[in-house]
Amino acid sequence: MTQDEAKALVGKRAVEFVKDGMAVGLGTGTTATLFIRSLGERVQQGLKIRCVASSDASHNLAASLGMDITTLDKLPELDVYIDGADEVAPGLALIKGGGGALLREKIVASAAKKFIVVADQTKVVKMLGRFPLPVEVIKMALPLVLPKLAELGLNPSQRPAKNGNGPYLTDEGNFILDCACGQIPDPVATAAAIRSIVGVVEHGLFLHMASLALIAGDDGVTELQP
Ligand code: A5P
Repeated sequence: MTQDEAKALVGKRAVEFVKDGMAVGLGTGTTATLFIRSLGERVQQGLKIRCVASSDASHNLAASLGMDITTLDKLPELDVYIDGADEVAPGLALIKGGGGALLREKIVASAAKKFIVVADQTKVVKMLGRFPLPVEVIKMALPLVLPKLAELGLNPSQRPAKNGNGPYLTDEGNFILDCACGQIPDPVATAAAIRSIVGVVEHGLFLHMASLALIAGDDGVTELQP
């Protein structure tokens, strides 16, 4: 099974966790996109749900599929949030933000009773840190935050825009620093150290947030619990 086939498979499986009448948080990224497309098909067949998205891209996609998509001010409590991840470690500790949407993803996930991760098996690791950890930073604080992350040994570098023209900007207009820090043996301590830096808006460590992970591989979809 290719990685794309695995992403499509798990995206489709996640739709089974969405029931009539639910308020659903929509994730961001390639796997979440395939989930949203599958969910859109079910909506076109009559599934009645309301949704909030974690990025402008997912919001626009859901709207284009005819889904009832709104914002947290109208729908602040969600039954479930379904999203991909860059890494899934034991306890369902995650790195997210490869797609740059970590801040809104964490906000929407925190509004949901249940957070279901959808990923292909290449994302499963024994310890977080193979994937560079994204940190979202207020623009004016960049010259202060960058050396502080470096002092912590996190090896930060500023993410460039996808088209190579200037820096990457998040939906909230902030910069992203990708920290190629290697293995993260104590994610709780790393998260606390990063959060203590003034000017950091959010980081891509999602700890004690996910309640279930659906992992697709050659044996089909397996479920991981925290
Ligand atoms: C978006 O900001 C991310 O958190 C994604 O959820 C994560 O990068 C996984 O993306 P893919 O499904 O595209 O691998």
